[in-house]
Amino acid sequence: MTSPRLVRDLLHEAAQRLLTVHAADGIDDARLQVELLYGLATGLDRVHVIAAGGDTLPAAAVEPFEVLMERRLQHEPLAYIRGKREFFGMTFEVGPGCLVPRPETETLVEAALEAVKAHPGARRLVRVADIGTGSGAIALAVAQHSPNAKVYAVDVSTEALQWAGRNMRRFGLQDRVVLLAGDLAEPLSEPIDVLLANLPYVSTDEFEALPAQIREREPRIAVEGGPQGVELIARLAQQLDAHLAPVAAAIFEVGAGQISWAEELVTNALTEAGRTGLDVRYHRDLRGIRRVLEVRVGYPAG
Ligand SMILES: C[S@@+](CC[C@H](N)C(=O)[O-])C[C@H]1O[C@@H](n2cnc3c(N)ncnc32)[C@H](O)[C@@H]1O
Repeated sequence: MTSPRLVRDLLHEAAQRLLTVHAADGIDDARLQVELLYGLATGLDRVHVIAAGGDTLPAAAVEPFEVLMERRLQHEPLAYIRGKREFFGMTFEVGPGCLVPRPETETLVEAALEAVKAHPGARRLVRVADIGTGSGAIALAVAQHSPNAKVYAVDVSTEALQWAGRNMRRFGLQDRVVLLAGDLAEPLSEPIDVLLANLPYVSTDEFEALPAQIREREPRIAVEGGPQGVELIARLAQQLDAHLAPVAAAIFEVGAGQISWAEELVTNALTEAGRTGLDVRYHRDLRGIRRVLEVRVGYPAG
């Protein structure tokens, strides 16, 4: 007599399949991914999926799980399959057409909240812009946590803006968030106190070497920043003086190893435009990488 197949047997086999098929992508959380897919297939939350490990596998769970597994094996990002991603304690709706928010971007949000709080206008209203808003992750996290911020969320992709709009309504932030379509800072029509940007910064060569789930599934326009990676950051640096208020901060997420390059681009552009007393700060992500460049102009000392 053969013993019954258990939920944990299915999960174990599925994790092995994921690891084998996606070997080149260096997946380090295959077990977590299949648990989440099983939860989606059965309506169980993760705690109950884990608790059900020793149970006999319900026949009704197999087909829905296999359908989801097949999508994942075809490199669809887990967040697209689930239709959501947690970021800065908030659950964002995501799908094809917008970048899945990454944990390292929370470093930028933390720096942004500090810059908003320290801005001399903080008692009234601080005008914030998020250039390349994607799902709206940065713009909406800042708006949610800074009640005195008015946030412009800009993107050149109308598909991305649709996701940002959906999330804006989800969090009920329509009264303080304005979505704008267009190139970099061009759509902005009032001076900005805190300008934020997580623009694409992967070089063309690096892009070709990315895991298939990014290269084939997330929008290329959200990932690749040009032949050297920093081209969009360089272009935005040239627009800063025209769009920043006299007292302002500009905060950029950059790729590993790009921070000095970005610093030079931003500080040269501002200095050439006659801005003085620049205060340059770096913020490290959870892996210790200098991930975020902040340049403050005219902020009070402290
Ligand atoms: C790296 S994604 C960041 C998305 C989101 N801010 C986040 O952190 O999850 C970059 C975003 O910049 C947008 N983008 C690319 N080129 C742009 C341009 N020239 N002007 C405005 N947005 C642009 C892309 O459509 C994409 O949504």
